[in-house]
Amino acid sequence: MPCASYWITEARRAVAQVIRDPEAMRGLVERAKSDGRTVGLVPTMGYFHEGHLELMRMAGSECDLVVVSVYVNPTQFGPSEDFKQYPRDLERDIKLAEGAGVDYLFVPSDQDMYPEGFQTYVEVEKVTRGLCGAARPGHFRGVTTVVAKLFNIIPAHRAYFGQKDAQQAAVIKRMVKDLNFLLKIRVGPTVRESDGLAMSSRNRYLGPEARKAATVLYRALRRVQGAVEAGERRAESLKRMIEKEISSEPSVELEYIAICDNIGLKEQKRLEGEVLVALAAKVGGVRLIDNVLLRVSDG
Ligand code: PAJ
Repeated sequence: MPCASYWITEARRAVAQVIRDPEAMRGLVERAKSDGRTVGLVPTMGYFHEGHLELMRMAGSECDLVVVSVYVNPTQFGPSEDFKQYPRDLERDIKLAEGAGVDYLFVPSDQDMYPEGFQTYVEVEKVTRGLCGAARPGHFRGVTTVVAKLFNIIPAHRAYFGQKDAQQAAVIKRMVKDLNFLLKIRVGPTVRESDGLAMSSRNRYLGPEARKAATVLYRALRRVQGAVEAGERRAESLKRMIEKEISSEPSVELEYIAICDNIGLKEQKRLEGEVLVALAAKVGGVRLIDNVLLRVSDG
């Protein structure tokens, strides 16, 4: 027999409330914490897919209250990137978030996030330089600045990020450590389409041909995974394996392949410990990223 508190919980979870004001948001989180409830935060730029929803469910399974932020953050887009065209649909997001058990959607305005006179940025150094940081100067500075602001507005116990954006997760973990944020970072696995393509809000830009060609990225990563399982440890031969697989799709243009540790993202020549194999490529003009995390033990 469900008890009364069960029903209260269910009723609370059936409606996701939209909060726009940062001070009101912080007040609600502080109140929940003083009532002894644990709070989970899922930062997003909206236009939800299963990757986002899985992070929300993970937060719901570990925390009493789930807050999702929806904010297309202008400071993390380069001048020639897709800030203006980035897909937005709040009504759809509210429904999906409710289905995933979210309590609050924090949807701030640009004016609230970057008021006139704004001039303070958070910059993580070495770990932002390679991989995506090399092709997207200033991107991670925008990410860490907005995420630090979100951590202050929503002082959660845990914040949830996806392995899909492996460098972003490593950068945020570094920032949390370096700046003594109190919350714990939790990383959820990459959610994929049935043919292996990592879910991304940008997949909708792919035309039918490019969408088909894009599956080569995960195929190449799986091939590397198989080779490592079979004993290959040389990063160079694994990189050549990826290049060869990807060259079978002429419309796919590789930007980088990185084989590195998963904390400082330092390149490895010989695979050892927890190894991140990450890549970025342009497929029909759309920039996609993907990665696999391998545990290499030679003991
Ligand atoms: P966004 O691209 O909306 O992603 C929000 C979160 O969902 C990120 O932590 C991302 O890693 C995760 N995610 C995206 N695709 C995923 C997938 N296929 N599987 C698992 N997780 C996935 O990342 C951002 O927004 C922004 O940079 C943000 C952190 C919100 C700062 O503006």
